[in-house]
Amino acid sequence: MIGKVCVVTGATSGLGWETARSLAHKGATVILLGRNADKGKVAMEKIREIKPDARLEFLPVDMGTQAQIRKVASDIKAKYPMIDVLVNNAGTWHSQRILNGDGLETVFAVNHLAYFLLTHLLYPNLQRPEDARIINIGSDSHFQVKGMHFADLSLGKKYHGLRSYAQSKLANLLFTYELHRRKPDEHITVNCVQPGLVKTDIGLKHTSWLHQLAWKIRRSSGVEPAEGARTQVYLATSEEVKGKSGLYFDDCQPKKSSRASYDEEAAAQLWEISRALCGIDNYFEPGS
Ligand SMILES: NC(=O)c1ccc[n+]([C@@H]2O[C@H](COP(=O)([O-])OP(=O)(O)OC[C@H]3O[C@@H](n4cnc5c(N)ncnc54)[C@H](OP(=O)(O)O)[C@@H]3O)[C@@H](O)[C@H]2O)c1
Repeated sequence: MIGKVCVVTGATSGLGWETARSLAHKGATVILLGRNADKGKVAMEKIREIKPDARLEFLPVDMGTQAQIRKVASDIKAKYPMIDVLVNNAGTWHSQRILNGDGLETVFAVNHLAYFLLTHLLYPNLQRPEDARIINIGSDSHFQVKGMHFADLSLGKKYHGLRSYAQSKLANLLFTYELHRRKPDEHITVNCVQPGLVKTDIGLKHTSWLHQLAWKIRRSSGVEPAEGARTQVYLATSEEVKGKSGLYFDDCQPKKSSRASYDEEAAAQLWEISRALCGIDNYFEPGS
């Protein structure tokens, strides 16, 4: 990975940090994105303890705020004309329905719209290397919903943390497959990952005490983040997957996702809604 530039969102903890660490260890320049500058500093220090010459940069961004995503993307583009790997990893789980500053439900905004918008903004820079890879972190939680709730995407009438999370993870797959179908560039691949059940703090951050307890019990049978990040690192680095695109990976192998995730009409509808919500005219045209 020497000479390659990788962008990892949500790199201050859990799977994102492990991914950043592993990519840096393999020699890549890694741009870590996170919403908390102190955590970003610690994240880089911890990587440098293991690899003192790691090439790292931390950029602060709240992935739930579109203006901040646009600002960080323009900072990245100004400095790194070529991006080899984009790992859309930042994710969140909320017990309560919270609207963000853009008026959008936070889980949908962070877990799906941020992937959609950041990929659009960085797309011109991904066009430059001869082998560029987009990796979206999904989850088998998407099996828990039968489809997108298009009548009420932000779940204003019937919010539940599990439903909101599962729907956002279904959106990751619909987006991955639709991007694969639409993208004009063969040399850019896009795949989605199921990391498995991983011992991270995702279920402890914005959750009720009951959901925290449930997550503590559930994650105790999970794997460590280094093990959980294996498939996303594999997709970012392995020669074996060069040119492979539009797939769902688990344990470094492609596998089937839910029936709902292959619904092309739903994928096209979600694409158009996301495009409108992000104010994008032409997805593959810079600046639009
Ligand atoms: N853990 C599992 O079992 C599991 C299973 C399947 C899929 N996943 C997926 O894996 C990905 C990583 O999750 P994780 O388990 O590693 O959890 P995590 O340790 O909580 O990491 C999530 C990362 O996203 C960041 N983030 C959350 N909201 C953000 C925002 N608004 N702006 C910027 N950054 C934000 C977090 O920052 P803070 O540290 O500031 O919160 C953190 O760096 C997620 O997409 C999740 O859905 C996890």
